Amino acid sequence: MLSNQTNDGGKRTSLHGHWSSRMAFILAVTGSAVGLGNIWKFPYIAGQNGGGAFVLVYLLCVVLIGMPVMMSEILIGRRGRRNPVATMQLLGKEEGSTGAWKWVGVIGVLAGILILSYYSVVAGWVLTYVVKSVTGTFTGQSAEVVSAVFNQFTGSWKSVVAAHTIFMALTVFVVARGVERGLEQAVRFMVPALLLLMLALLGYAISTGHFMEGVAFMFTPDWGKLGWNSVLAALGQAFFTLSIGMGAVMAYGAYLPEETSITGASAAVVVADTSIAILAGLVIFPLVFANNLSPAEGPGLVFHTLPLAFGQMSGGVLFSTVFFVLLSFAAWTSALGLVEPAVAWLVEHFHKTRAQAAVIIGTLIWFIGLGSALSFNVLGDVRFLNGTIFDNVDYVTSNVMLPVGGLLIVVFAGWIMCRNSTAEELGSAGTLYRIWRVLARYLAPIGILMVLGKAVGLF
Ligand code: TRP
Repeated sequence: MLSNQTNDGGKRTSLHGHWSSRMAFILAVTGSAVGLGNIWKFPYIAGQNGGGAFVLVYLLCVVLIGMPVMMSEILIGRRGRRNPVATMQLLGKEEGSTGAWKWVGVIGVLAGILILSYYSVVAGWVLTYVVKSVTGTFTGQSAEVVSAVFNQFTGSWKSVVAAHTIFMALTVFVVARGVERGLEQAVRFMVPALLLLMLALLGYAISTGHFMEGVAFMFTPDWGKLGWNSVLAALGQAFFTLSIGMGAVMAYGAYLPEETSITGASAAVVVADTSIAILAGLVIFPLVFANNLSPAEGPGLVFHTLPLAFGQMSGGVLFSTVFFVLLSFAAWTSALGLVEPAVAWLVEHFHKTRAQAAVIIGTLIWFIGLGSALSFNVLGDVRFLNGTIFDNVDYVTSNVMLPVGGLLIVVFAGWIMCRNSTAEELGSAGTLYRIWRVLARYLAPIGILMVLGKAVGLF
């Protein structure tokens, strides 16, 4: 059907072009991984789940489950060279199973849409905080005032919806411009800059005199406090922060040149992503303790702590502005990854142009996101299952859809694909390959199943 997708000599090419280099791919995946998940979500989830034990379980999940799932996703993507739905369908048949594997891709497309619907709302808060920073809102303010600013802002549905709208428009704009020109340029400088700024903030956190309290909170495990729900939250956070379990990395893998090492690229992404999350925790918890705030504050945590710190340091207006600008970029590059599966699918399956696909998907996401935007104000009293609409979309995507998607992906790579196919993609049948295969066939699937089962009380 599509001439440049036919199988010439066993190698397919992607319809959307390719990354210009190995570094471009690593940057793009890192750009999708590093986002609000690291700086906004990780500290507040860790805080809500009691710190120490949660953080250690999270790290185990990243290494033992996240890493093999990420490698599986990339190798599947590169082998299929299409959008996640078509890739899963094609490889399902090619590997002697069934085209029904396409449903893994479909769940992923939906998960991406749902995640971005609330992600965009929080990204809107970040954009708003750029403006608040520039205008010196936080200079010299007390913890009470800083918290009141946040509550007042999120309590106004107009402000939250407006910010959500602006963020979605920015996302649609870059997605419409396409793979090479759009995605690559946006990620080049952001991750190193963010890392540097976090290091500077770390210096400030140390100067508060409460640094060791923060460290103790994050790394002293109190296993008694850790229920299966917290373990599930740790697993969900590992999937969320690495952008895996929904085909995003698979979609990016489709544009990956043959010669790039999937293991090396995955390791680079995992290290960069985890470092930023841990750094964020090390910055935020000392501030929490220095100002008598609660670590279990919830989604507002970062917005209550960091502006307070910025308001007290010299040059705070500048630091604060730069920080929220960088975080906006981080959220932006993540948003691109979240819509990529849906957009690539519309383009390939329904023959839309990239621009049309971006507008259609963007509008849909904007609309769904209204539910989350209003969760902090007019719909604040609508509560079911885990809380507000916002809480539920977050919970279902991270703790159900991503782990289930990841389970199916890793089972597909470990059990359905033949050894030759995966060995070919991973570049050798050496020790690293064998470790990946054991994790992908046994440890990761059993781990995910156990956590899901235990958390819902199945056994
Ligand atoms: N990893 C992103 C973050 O930490 C969020 C995210 C989850 C994501 N799944 C994704 C981003 C898929 C891109 C693609 O902020």
